[in-house]
Amino acid sequence: MSERIPKESPKSPDKPEKRQQMVKLYHLDQQTHAILKKYPAHFLAKGGEHFVYEIGSKETGDLRDVVVKGSAQMAQVMTRELEDKGVEKPSDLPFERQEIFKRYLHEDEQKYLALRKTFGADHVMPQRRYIMNVPINEDIAEEIFGEESDKEDCWTLVTLQKRAKELSESKFAILDMGTEYVERSPVGPSEYARGKAESSLDRRSSILLMQAMKDPQLREQVEDFVKKAVTYTENEHEILDLIGSRNVYFYKKEQDDGTSRWSYRILDGFYAKPRIKILDKAKAAIGYFEEHGELKNKSEANVLMNALAYARSINAMAKSLGLKERVDILDDVKEETIEKLLNEIRKKTDYVDPNMTQKA
Ligand SMILES: Nc1ncnc2c1ncn2[C@@H]1O[C@H](COP(=O)(O)OP(=O)(O)O)[C@@H](O)[C@H]1O
Ligand SMILES: [Mg+2]
Repeated sequence: MSERIPKESPKSPDKPEKRQQMVKLYHLDQQTHAILKKYPAHFLAKGGEHFVYEIGSKETGDLRDVVVKGSAQMAQVMTRELEDKGVEKPSDLPFERQEIFKRYLHEDEQKYLALRKTFGADHVMPQRRYIMNVPINEDIAEEIFGEESDKEDCWTLVTLQKRAKELSESKFAILDMGTEYVERSPVGPSEYARGKAESSLDRRSSILLMQAMKDPQLREQVEDFVKKAVTYTENEHEILDLIGSRNVYFYKKEQDDGTSRWSYRILDGFYAKPRIKILDKAKAAIGYFEEHGELKNKSEANVLMNALAYARSINAMAKSLGLKERVDILDDVKEETIEKLLNEIRKKTDYVDPNMTQKA
């Protein structure tokens, strides 16, 4: 139910000092809530949208292999909804509003099943989503609801997921298939043309490609991912969320015989706007632009930018690996129109040319 809005890179807990700071900031006092007494939650990470906690007690060695991820954006959406209706919990909402939440969870489940069907259960982190009331602390409340908030808990969409052990325990490098919004800087229209889209791979994906070129077994896995991503988009008219770190990554998986082989995992793959097929929405927005010379609003520009960033990255990887598959969004659009469209997206998403700010 969230929309990915371009912003600075999500907070990365990679640096130890920064991580320590975040652990302190997002620590939940285990004594304050009944649920925490039962399931102690230890802060693990925070991406652009989710607060991620491990469940279980490190002290007693009782670590369960589950993480709980609370969505900040959904906390805002739901809290607003409950406040508007003057009620405290989703089950007190009018019937039709409850149905909307239920339908959302159902559609979300369908999306998850489609991911598993396309990529194979091995490649998609097992997960379930719920609407839950979760404890928060003062700093989290401030971050989600603003300075004034004195909330100690809130309703939100919560994802329960198996813990990705390889992220903390693997002795091998983890390689991201990740995307940045190069659409925000002057990337040319030809990057989107079939067969030409090769030069704008993002930094992390370039590293992945470089390694894949040296390692046939990794290459086989990257090719598998790229082909299935194209199939997924063709069949489901959805994209994967490649913005941010560790959403889709390649890691070495230990085999029963003690050897290890590359595999990949989709950990945070949803582009989570409900009830829209993002590919259809992107194409409709392009159609509108061709007719009117502008995009309707910022939201459409965001959708389009995410769809383009995804298509460009997948296509660039496919081209670099010599695959014929492509995600087809802009193929029938003239280069000069693409140029104008990219400028319109930059304008509508408040893109600031870094050269301009340097001069100012
Ligand atoms: N199942 C998991 N196991 C271990 N770490 C996880 C898991 N899910 C998320 N994380 C960590 O939390 C970070 C943010 O989670 P993510 O699901 O990507 O949320 P966001 O939507 O905020 O990007 C990830 O980059 C990863 O480091
Ligand atoms: Mg993420």
